Order: sequence, then C-alpha cells, then structure tokens
Amino acid sequence: LISGIIFAMIYKIIFSKVSWMIKKAVLPVAGLGTRFLPASKATPKEMLPIIDKPLVQYAVEEAISIGIKEIIFITSPEKNSIKRHFNKNEEIEKKLIKSGKGEIAKKLNPKIFSDITFYYINQETQNGLGDAILHAERIVNNEDFAVLLPDDLIFSEKSCLSQLLEIYDKHNSSVIAVNKVDEENIHK
Ligand code: UTP
Repeated sequence: LISGIIFAMIYKIIFSKVSWMIKKAVLPVAGLGTRFLPASKATPKEMLPIIDKPLVQYAVEEAISIGIKEIIFITSPEKNSIKRHFNKNEEIEKKLIKSGKGEIAKKLNPKIFSDITFYYINQETQNGLGDAILHAERIVNNEDFAVLLPDDLIFSEKSCLSQLLEIYDKHNSSVIAVNKVDEENIHK
C-alpha cells in the first residue's frame, strides 16, 4: 500500500445509523522500518522519541481522544519494547515515589490509559500492511474499527482521526486519509 495512507476506517452496514461507534483501533507496528535504518536497528521506529514521548504514544493518545477503548497492536518479537512501554512497571513507579518523584511516576501510566485494553498480536512474517491489519480480524470481530499508522505524526488543530470520524459518521462509509507526496520523496 502507498506510503501516503495514514488512517483507514472500515464501516459495517449494521451500525450505519449509529454515530461514534468506533471503539477499536488497530495499530500495525510490525514493519521492518528499513527506511529508518540505522536508527531503527535496535529501537523500533515507532519508539523513537518526539520530545518526551515515543511516536507510538501520540497515536495511542489520538485514538483514546476520540473514544477508542481497545488498542490492537500488530507487532513482532523484535518490537517488544512497545509492549513494555504500555505495560505497567510497578518497580520503577515505586522507586520514583520513594525518591519523591511521584509526579514523574504519574507520567509512566497516564490516567487516560486506565480503562483501555491493549492487545498484542504477532505478525510472524512481514507481508505488508494489509496482512498486518488482517491479523486483527478475530479481535475486531466484525465491528467497525480505525487503523492508525503510528510511524506518521500529523499535526492539526482537529486531530486527523476525529476528522475521519466525522466523515465516516456523515457518509456511513469507509474513509481513508492520504498525504500528497512529491515524486522525489516517494521512496522515503
Ligand atoms: P511502512 O511501510 O511505513 O513501514 O508501514 P515499514 O514496512 O516498517 O517500513 P520500511 O518500508 O521497511 O521502511 C506502515 C506501518 O505498518 C506497519 C509498520 O510497522 C508501520 O507502522 N507494518 C508494515 C506492519 O505492521 N507489517 C508489515 O508487514 C508492514
């Protein structure tokens, strides 16, 4: 699939009259990240920091901000740090609290994550984005869902995902966001 595709939303007729029914988001993070090498050799590109958070956290927060309750990562054993990032680490938390750094401890497990369910499904072979999304089939279970590509960071006043949701809601159909890329930058 072309690298300009950022998000996709799948629509199912049964919920066509119901607004804001998207509760599940699929985040494929199993890619090899060859274009980011050597930065992505030991650190998944989705874990590269932007200011004080890894890239993937921005996508998760954007999903939660529109009411997503289940985050489904399509991942690989090499990307274990993504799972570690979203899992609780009580040992570090305890140490921080003990040394009077409770405020920093709060940042480790933001409140907005507390009622979110995270799933991690391994994509054994990197057969591309479509194959990665298909791995979420069982958990998506025929519901409408969002797809976010966490290696793209989109700045906009109204988040890209909430704009997509509005279109989905208005037209009762799948909607996809694309980014225009000059020919000389397509390989990047
Ligand atoms: P990209 O094509 O941008 O990522 O896929 P890539 O394959 O990791 O990058 P290159 O081409 O090797 O540099 C978009 C998203 O889909 C995931 C990637 O992790 C990224 O978040 N992806 C891609 C998968 O989960 N599985 C795949 O087989 C391919």
